[in-house]
Amino acid sequence: MPSKILIVGACGQIGSELTLALRDIHGENAVIASDIKAPTSPELSGGPFEILDATDYESFKSIVTTHDIDTVYMMAAMLSGTAEKFPEKGWDLNMTSLFNVLNLGKENLINKIFWPSSIAVFGPTTPKVDTPQQTVMEPTTVYGISKQAGERWCAYYHKRYGVDVRSIRYPGLISYKTPPGGGTTDYAIEIFHEALKSQKYTSFLSAETALPMMYMDDAIHATISIMDAPSDSVKIRSSYNLAGVSFTPEELYKEIKKQIPDFELAYETDFRQAIADSWPNSIDDTEARTDWGWRHDFNLEMIVKEMLEGVKSLEEVK
Ligand code: SER
Repeated sequence: MPSKILIVGACGQIGSELTLALRDIHGENAVIASDIKAPTSPELSGGPFEILDATDYESFKSIVTTHDIDTVYMMAAMLSGTAEKFPEKGWDLNMTSLFNVLNLGKENLINKIFWPSSIAVFGPTTPKVDTPQQTVMEPTTVYGISKQAGERWCAYYHKRYGVDVRSIRYPGLISYKTPPGGGTTDYAIEIFHEALKSQKYTSFLSAETALPMMYMDDAIHATISIMDAPSDSVKIRSSYNLAGVSFTPEELYKEIKKQIPDFELAYETDFRQAIADSWPNSIDDTEARTDWGWRHDFNLEMIVKEMLEGVKSLEEVK
């Protein structure tokens, strides 16, 4: 029997595409999708699905034992923008769900764990350009603090209890299939929807705000690669830096304008500007490239092309 996989947060931006990618590889019965809410797309309901609140250890354990789960992708989290509005709730969700999955590993109920970290682990005192793997980390957001603490707990559970947990510091992720949920990098997705719908968009980040970004296909590929890598090649057990592209709202605007000449961009920054200002402009991911062979495929031009085609195809289906 193939080993079974559980995805927690399968209705989310990453979880939804990860579920479909893993079902393609392992077959739909080997991949159990779960989320706190019922599936949002017909594609997701096409395989086994469980309702799961990741902060409830007993329910988590019961799903893991009932389905004889070997590997868990723990994707549920409250992102940077939303967690600033609900600091304690954000901390509680992000940490309790992580402890639950780490403890399932410690109890030998599962063998392998993926847990996402983020560029939000860095802060205003971190070197901004080509941010190294090991550097100053003084995050100033609830989300960043939870991811930084989470990374330390992952390394601790690996060292102390031998838990096979693997992690990536995702940059801002760009995709069209499932909307993002309350992140600081969400402007880079909204802009495509508005460019096609009204040829106008107002960015909540300023023109010159450079942030590390990545197309979702690259992120899914990285996630599956680190999980498939032999255990001894995953040398970093906190979380790996991961880079794709870096761009500003103005650079993205210019690239979209090549396809939609009438497109107009305005700027009106909000509380998310301060979050973006505390994060790196670009990331050095040498370790991920060396240790488990990471490489990205999508540059800015390709991302814009794929996003415009993808968002257009969604509108046609409606
Ligand atoms: N995209 C995320 C956010 O903006 C970063 O991990 O919160």
